Amino acid sequence: MRSDANIAGPMTDPVPGPRSESLGDDVSRETPSPMDDTPIGRAAQLAVQTLGRTGEPLPRPEQTRVMVVANQKGGVGKTTTTVNLAASLALHGARVLVIDLDPQGNASTALGIDHHAEVPSIYDVLVESKPLSDVVVPVPDVEGLFCAPATIDLAGAEIELVSLVARESRLDRAIKAYEQPLDYILIDCPPSLGLLTVNALVAGAEVLIPIQCEYYALEGLGQLLRNVDLVRGHLNPKLHVSTILLTMYDGRTRLASQVADEVRNHFGNEVLRTSIPRSVRISEAPSYGQTVLTYDPGSSGSLSYLEAAREIALRGAARAGAGTQGLTVNYEPQHSMPEGKQ
Ligand SMILES: Nc1ncnc2c1ncn2[C@@H]1O[C@H](COP(=O)(O)OP(=O)(O)OP(=O)(O)O)[C@@H](O)[C@H]1O
Ligand SMILES: [Mg+2]
Repeated sequence: MRSDANIAGPMTDPVPGPRSESLGDDVSRETPSPMDDTPIGRAAQLAVQTLGRTGEPLPRPEQTRVMVVANQKGGVGKTTTTVNLAASLALHGARVLVIDLDPQGNASTALGIDHHAEVPSIYDVLVESKPLSDVVVPVPDVEGLFCAPATIDLAGAEIELVSLVARESRLDRAIKAYEQPLDYILIDCPPSLGLLTVNALVAGAEVLIPIQCEYYALEGLGQLLRNVDLVRGHLNPKLHVSTILLTMYDGRTRLASQVADEVRNHFGNEVLRTSIPRSVRISEAPSYGQTVLTYDPGSSGSLSYLEAAREIALRGAARAGAGTQGLTVNYEPQHSMPEGKQ
């Protein structure tokens, strides 16, 4: 694990908030380190400052954890979660690949990756059988983070895949043939349950479902869970829903806490204790081709994704140690999130 990115320690400062500018100024007056010259250096430093540096580094998984970020409902925070969790895990020292499996290419945009029509993309991997290594590019500013971009071509792939051999497992094959060492692969799915999402479900072992804290939050989830069961039964016995993440949580509303209670009652241990607050900073970051981790490292949105990443890493290690799924994890949050603030 890279020591310069060890930001996994106890989080001593409990008051994150919209204070990036002042934090940035403060940091620039401090003794410069070699990393100060790069955006990621500044971002990591700000996050380290905010969270505190002591404590154990996060455990790295023994095998690559392939996590499918799925929910066929649109706009619930799949892409936002994929890119910000991926950046958080990378900042925690992991090597992470984001696979953009949505023709909208939002994850590619948010990571600052060019994805115009001619760019080698995940379409070429799925439909043209190109090796994944031909399309993976490093994400600027975030060491250890990589992206397989999606172009608009992918819109046709749902149809084109139908007539291809092993149409459901083309992504799985490509990932298995990819030789670069990775700790995590996060797959950003489109808001549908078609062949693209099925390819992701066949390729992954874990499903991460972001749930927006709003009315009708659970509606439609039954269909996703049935598809997970179907894929597990027929194509991928390892597949399970490992993680539920509450997104766009607004602590000022009763509705948000009611939905959160309902989701926790329904799913129990799979729900992360950390929820992601509704945050203007989170929604602004993609228009600068950045994650919130580099856009505003000290914001509550950034800290909540760092915390969620930490929780995911610790849960994974606990499950691997126990060799079981659905285990109760003694996770103590080290940082109380300011809910409903930006
Ligand atoms: N925590 C948050 N606070 C504020 N805005 C958010 C938050 N999370 C996501 N958003 C915004 O909500 C919108 C939908 O988020 P996002 O694109 O991540 O959802 P999605 O599930 O990937 O959507 P789609 O189904 O279209 O792929 C975006 O404009 C995003 O910036
Ligand atoms: Mg999306």
